[in-house]
Amino acid sequence: MRAPALLSGGSVRVWVLPMAFLIGFTGVAGPPADPPADPGAPGEAASAGGLVAVLPQRPGPPELPTPPPARATDCAKTRCVALTFDDGPGEHTGALLDTLAAHRARATFFVLGGMVEQSGGEDLRRMVTDGHELGNHGWSHTALTGLSRSGIRSELRRTQEIVERETGVRMTLMRPPYGATDERVAAESRSQGLAQILWSLDTMDWRDRDVAVVSRRAAKATSGSIVLMHDIHLTTVKAVPKLLENLAGKEFTFVTLSELYGGAPSPGRRYTRR
Ligand code: NI
Repeated sequence: MRAPALLSGGSVRVWVLPMAFLIGFTGVAGPPADPPADPGAPGEAASAGGLVAVLPQRPGPPELPTPPPARATDCAKTRCVALTFDDGPGEHTGALLDTLAAHRARATFFVLGGMVEQSGGEDLRRMVTDGHELGNHGWSHTALTGLSRSGIRSELRRTQEIVERETGVRMTLMRPPYGATDERVAAESRSQGLAQILWSLDTMDWRDRDVAVVSRRAAKATSGSIVLMHDIHLTTVKAVPKLLENLAGKEFTFVTLSELYGGAPSPGRRYTRR
C-alpha cells in the first residue's frame, strides 16, 4: 500500500509543525485517488479519496543574524570580565538578554544542542545580533570523559551543526559538561576547531538558588576572570542586574571570550582565565 504522502516527508520536529499538519493528517485516511496528488507540493490542497487534504507548509531556513561590529576593547589594558552562561537556551534566556542589552554587556553562552533543538534558534539569533558569543556545551550534557571517541565527536559535532544551521555561526569554543576533560576530549576539540574554556570563578548558582548569594559571588571577579553561571535558573537571571551594577562600579568591561583573549583562542587548548 502506498504510504500517505504526509508521512513520507515527515520531520522529527513535530512540535514546530503548524496545525495544517494535523488537519492534513486526518484528511488522508482514504486510499489515494488517481491521478495521485503530488506529494512534493507544500501548502497545496490535494484530493485524496474524495477528501481534501491540506499539505503542510514547511518552514524555510531561518534568516541568519548579523553580529554588530567588533569593539575595540583591549583586555591587556582595561579591566575585563567574561560572564559565561551554560546549559541553555531556556525559558529565562530572553529576560537575561534584555538585562545584558540594557547594560551594554556582552557575554558568552555555552549552549546544549538538545536545548536548541527543543526551543528553536530564536534566542541564539538574538545572542548573535546583540554581540554575544556562542560556545558548544555538547548535545545532552553527558560527561565527555565517559564516552568513546566517536561519542565525544557526536556530542560536539551535532551541536556545531544545529547552531550553524540556526545562526550561521561556526563556533570556536567549547566547555565540557562538569568541566570534565582529558586527552581525548582535548584531541576531539582540537580536530573540530574548538578551544576548551573552563572558568576561574564558579558562582555555584545551580546549587544555591539565591539571588543575593549569586550576585555577591560573581562580584568577586577580578580582571581577567571567567565567571561560570547558568541561564536556565531564574535566580541567576535575577542576580545579573545587581552583579552588573557591582562590577560596573569597579570599572569592569563585560566581554566575550574572544574579546577577553583578543582573538579566537587556540583549538584544543584549555583556558581558565586571561
Ligand atoms: Ni553545564
